[in-house]
This record gives sequence, C-alpha cells and structure tokens, in this order.
Amino acid sequence: MNNCVVGLQWGDEGKGKVVDILAENADVVVRYGGGANAGHTVITGDTKFALHLMPSGAVREKTNCVIANGVVVDPGTLIDEINGLADKNISMEGRLFISENAHMVLDYHKQEDQLREASLGKNKIGTTARGIGPCYADKTGRSYAIRMADLLDLDALKEKLAKIVAYKNKLFGALYDAEPVDGDAIYAKCCRHSEVLAKFITNTTQYLHESIDAGKNLLFEGAQGALLDLDHGTFPFVTSSNASALGLGPGCGVPAQKVDRFIGVVKAYTTRVGAGPFPAEQDNEIGNTIRVKGNEFGTTTGRPRRCGWFDAVAVSFTARLGGINEIAMMHLDTLAGLGELKVCKAYQINSKETTFFPGSAADLEAAECVYDTLPGWDEDLTAVTTYDALPDNVKNYIAAIEKIVGIPVSIVGVGPKRGQAIFRD
Ligand code: GDP
Ligand code: IMO
Ligand code: MG
Repeated sequence: MNNCVVGLQWGDEGKGKVVDILAENADVVVRYGGGANAGHTVITGDTKFALHLMPSGAVREKTNCVIANGVVVDPGTLIDEINGLADKNISMEGRLFISENAHMVLDYHKQEDQLREASLGKNKIGTTARGIGPCYADKTGRSYAIRMADLLDLDALKEKLAKIVAYKNKLFGALYDAEPVDGDAIYAKCCRHSEVLAKFITNTTQYLHESIDAGKNLLFEGAQGALLDLDHGTFPFVTSSNASALGLGPGCGVPAQKVDRFIGVVKAYTTRVGAGPFPAEQDNEIGNTIRVKGNEFGTTTGRPRRCGWFDAVAVSFTARLGGINEIAMMHLDTLAGLGELKVCKAYQINSKETTFFPGSAADLEAAECVYDTLPGWDEDLTAVTTYDALPDNVKNYIAAIEKIVGIPVSIVGVGPKRGQAIFRD
C-alpha cells in the first residue's frame, strides 16, 4: 500500500504528525518537494523533533528515508538534522537516500532571498529566508544550478562555483549594492559537506521504482500546503514548488497511479504564515485565542501564524486538485471553549456568490466569506481515544465540513502527540 500525505491549506496542517503515525506501516518515507522552508513537528513520547529536510519517517529506525529530486537541499541544515537525530540515538546510516539530481541551496541563495525581500518593502512575500525561491529559479534557469551530484566531483564543482559566484556578485552588487559573496568559503563548506553526505547520494528514482516492484510500502510526505502551490496557489504569495499533490510525479519520478491513497491534512481552522490573501482570517480576539491555544508559531521561523475559521471553499478546491481520498483533521482540541464556530461555505465576490476557489488574485482579494455557524464544545478532547467518544458537537462539526467538501474525515487530531489521533475505522 502506497500513501501520500499532503497539506490542503497554507502549510503547517500537522503533516509531520500524520506521516509519523502512518510511517509505522511504511518501509520507505519520501520527501519530494520544498526544502528547509518546511518545519514538520513529530512528538514521540517526551521527545520533540522539528524536521526541515529529513522525512518525518526518520524518527522510526526501521524506515528508510528518501530525499527525492524535487527537494532543494541545504546541505548544512541536513547535516545538522542528521547530527541532531544521532544525538537522540537515531542513526541514518544505510537508510538515507538523497537524489543526485536534487538541487542544492547555497549561501548565495539565502542571501538573495533576504536581499530581495528587503528590497520589496511592504510588497514582500514574507518568505522563510531559506533560499528556496532563488534555488528553484536557478534550477529552471539551468545554467547556474548546482545539484547534489556535484558534491561527488569537487574539482568540477570548484570550476562551476567560481563562474556562478562571479555572476552572483555582479548581480548582487548592481541590484542591491551588496557585499561580495566569498566563493572560497562556499567551496570549502561544500568540501566538508561532501565528506558527510557523499555516501547517501544516489539515483532515488531507481531506488523508488525497485522498492515498488519489490512490494514495499511507500509513504510520500508533502511539504507546505496546496494553497502555496506555485501554479495553483495564491500567487505570488506562494512557495516556488508544486506544493499540492500534483508535485508528486515531477518531485520523485513516481506517477500518481502508484499511490493507493491520497490523504489531505487540514487543521480544524485555518492558519497562514507570511503575506497574502486569507478570506477567513480573524485578525481579532478569536484569531488571538486560536493562536495561543493552538501554539500557532512557525516551526521554522518562529513567526506568529495568522489564524482564522475553517475555509471549506479553499479545501474543496485543494482536495479536488490533489485527488484526495480522505482527510486528516488536526487540532480539534484547540477549538474547545471557543463558543460558536464558523465554517466558510462560499465566497461573495463583487456581489456574486461562488463555491469555487477563484483563480484570479483580484477576485480572491475581493472575496468575502459566507459562513455557516455551528455550535461549539467545551469538553477537553485531549484524552479521547475513539471516534464514538467524541462529543456530538465535534461530530456535527466534522460532518458539516465533510458535507461541503465531499470527502470523508478518516483521522482526527486531538493533541500534538503521536497517540493523540483517532482513526475512524
Ligand atoms: P506540518 O508543517 O504540517 O508538519 O505542521 P507543523 O509541525 O509545522 O505544525 C503543526 C503543529 O501542530 C505542531 O506544533 C504539532 O505538534 C501540532 N499538532 C499537530 N496535530 C495536532 C493536534 O491535533 N492538536 C494540537 N493541539 N496540536 C497538533
Ligand atoms: P510546512 O511544510 C507554512 C510560506 C512562507 C511564505 C511563502 C514563501 O511546514 O507546512 P518560501 O520560503 O517558501 O519562499 O516562502 O510560503 N511557507 C510555509 N508556510 N508552512 C510551510 O511549510 C511553509 N513553507 C513556506 O511563510 O509565506
Ligand atoms: Mg510546518
């Protein structure tokens, strides 16, 4: 059985937790997009992991982990994660497979990300400053790209880097009046990174297809969320990869037909980090309460997350986009005690009502939510272990969303820990 877990909102839905739970029955967990902009939290017992590049299956020692071609790899961050896991007695030896074709995030990408954002002032995207956009831009631009395989031929890398750094320095100097990048220092870092990572670099497409042929159970772990998808999200306030389930094929070379179940993860409300439209946002006391109760601060940057009601228009759209079979709804515990709850069931755009998520940025900017109001609950859900034992108003809330979105909720989150998830069947 091959499963794929993707976010259906603007990221941080709780994918790390869901992947960790499902990884119990997976032989291989695969990251296929994004980079160290992702922050996936896994809590096992008393230990908390915040993973950025490593698939969330890493915390289970019997699970192999793939970082596929679609990921942009910051080698320093990856090595920090390997060491962090080793400090907790979790070894990646012999079970980490990094694509030779994954592109590498280097210091000049992070510098460019920061310089560009600073130059945009109030029009900035609010990126994670992890160099994601500039690295994907070099990938599509081709001539100035560095891939993981380049760590296997350091003499050739030295030559390539010299040309690229000269180009970047001209560009950064002219555009931003920036200090020159130190090419020798970047090369020296690459040499150190090569010593640690070379043994993990391989043809992951071949490995994945051989694993499928051998009948292994694969679990694909999406990063970000479908509303941040470069092509289908809220452009330009998106990330630079196909963060919806549509990114799976190009991101790892496995077609969607090989996936038995696409599981879309949502929060029982909505959050967003960074700039961009957010029709159901509650920039008020309700949003503040959700932020505090749900601990809504970014796993990667620590930024407070913007909070709002559940947007069923957005999730209906992203579920269709990804061919989602079932939904995992996290953070139902967080809504306890909030009073009546609202679910956005349609948008009013220039006096017209629509239930289809708008493609145009101007329409989305103009969208006002049409809400259903539902009774809330006060009960603490964090110790509930069966679906039947959930209060009726929780079940009603889930049923109301299922009715609008048209897809069953199969997993319910009632707390951040591994055990705090209820499987419906
Ligand atoms: P990801 O990026 O989708 O993996 O999500 P993050 O890890 O960035 O953010 C999700 C946050 O919600 C983390 O702090 C999780 O520990 C937490 N979390 C996940 N599921 C639940 C849940 O059902 N209830 C509560 N209270 N917290 C949860
Ligand atoms: P996970 O995998 C939430 C957001 C940033 C910014 C926009 C572009 O943890 O769900 P980027 O650095 O990618 O160029 O930033 O995308 N963003 C995320 N928001 N969760 C994430 O990942 C995100 N990755 C990027 O905040 O608005
Ligand atoms: Mg996250």
